[in-house]
Amino acid sequence: MLEKYNIKCLQKADLKGKVVLVRVDHNVVKKGVINDSFRIDSTIGTLFYIYAHGGKAILMTHIGRPKDKKTGEIKTGKESAVEPIVEYLKNKLQIDLKVPVLKAEENKGYAGIDPSIKNMIKDLRDDKIDGIYLPNTRWFQGEEAKGDAQDQFAKQLAELADIYVNDAFGSWQAHASTAAITKYLPSYAGFLMQKELENLERIYNPKAPLVSVVAGSKFDTKIDSLFALLKKSDYLVLGGVIYNAYLCAKYGIEIKGIEADDLEHAKKFVEFAADYKNKLVELPYIVESDSIEGRFDGQYRIRNIKDLKKGTKLNYVLDAAKESFADEGVQKIFASANTIFVNAVMGFTPHFTEGTIALDLLIDKNKEALKLYGGGDTMEELKKLLPGLYMTAIDNPKYYIFTGGGAVLKAIQEGTTLGIEPVKALTK
Ligand code: 3PG
Ligand code: MG
Repeated sequence: MLEKYNIKCLQKADLKGKVVLVRVDHNVVKKGVINDSFRIDSTIGTLFYIYAHGGKAILMTHIGRPKDKKTGEIKTGKESAVEPIVEYLKNKLQIDLKVPVLKAEENKGYAGIDPSIKNMIKDLRDDKIDGIYLPNTRWFQGEEAKGDAQDQFAKQLAELADIYVNDAFGSWQAHASTAAITKYLPSYAGFLMQKELENLERIYNPKAPLVSVVAGSKFDTKIDSLFALLKKSDYLVLGGVIYNAYLCAKYGIEIKGIEADDLEHAKKFVEFAADYKNKLVELPYIVESDSIEGRFDGQYRIRNIKDLKKGTKLNYVLDAAKESFADEGVQKIFASANTIFVNAVMGFTPHFTEGTIALDLLIDKNKEALKLYGGGDTMEELKKLLPGLYMTAIDNPKYYIFTGGGAVLKAIQEGTTLGIEPVKALTK
């Protein structure tokens, strides 16, 4: 399938004796600990293949956003270090993986690749060590730089290896380690990347009807994807702050905590959605709570959106009520779907989870539909709330769980796989 895009796949590469620089998206460390290993585990096939075919791997990922956009300062430190991932891989694969120690300038990160790393690469070539894991790519000044500065760093990275493999679908931003580097090394798509792109195609060319469910805590980052999804889908269901803002804009009500910019975006969306009236599915029941701190007896209640007259003021709305998913119309829509795309945590976690549970159970009832789950949070909540369902979903061909939620939405917004810059870069 990827041939039509001219993307070279890892299975075409001659790896014997080669040093292979692999960009992964192991951005799973929060405050110094691994939050969920799904993204790491998903890349093991690529690593195994490289070793099995005589290659020697240098791994790299970004973690968090250590660069302050305003000041340009880069914070290096334990919180965004790769060490927890390295420990995890060492234990899991029983390999000797080394992290080069480089010198950071105070608040400026690394100026570039230190020449001392050459010794470590010699050890790698001589089979004295099994692999190298570079420090957080965003600790290097060149990673997120523009133009020459970025190219300089990409070149330095390229000098470390013979081949580049991108297996970091989730890392959709065009940075030195995801895009610019392809100018300087023969570049291939890893197996995870291939799988993610193949599944993206199943959203682009869905077996209709396609039902999409999107929830989120901000409208602005998702609005363009929502426009695209509304066009593409047969039905679109909203949740979270996005749905709250939508309800405010559509029905002239007020919901506590909805910010002005979300409302502005919601108004644009309502205008746009007017042409697609029958596609937008409004969940009829929502949970209103007086407190945002927790779920306290007597302090929350179910509201029917039909009762919301113009000017109604609601307290916080923190979930879709499970009754929404018992609604006959909603059930019919999910039952009729052949493809279901979900990028959604419905409620305000950890206290309001009944919406997400009811949604996931309803989706699972449709055994025939292809169910595509996008995004770290969506996946983590499914795992936490319905561990049994998650376990079966992982191996069930009717399910696919993407490792990158932002990347899927970006791709949908662009309308083509090659709209994601790092993927496009693999075609040159
Ligand atoms: C993610 O976790 O969403 C990806 O790793 C991308 O991270 P970014 O949004 O900071 O580029
Ligand atoms: Mg993310």
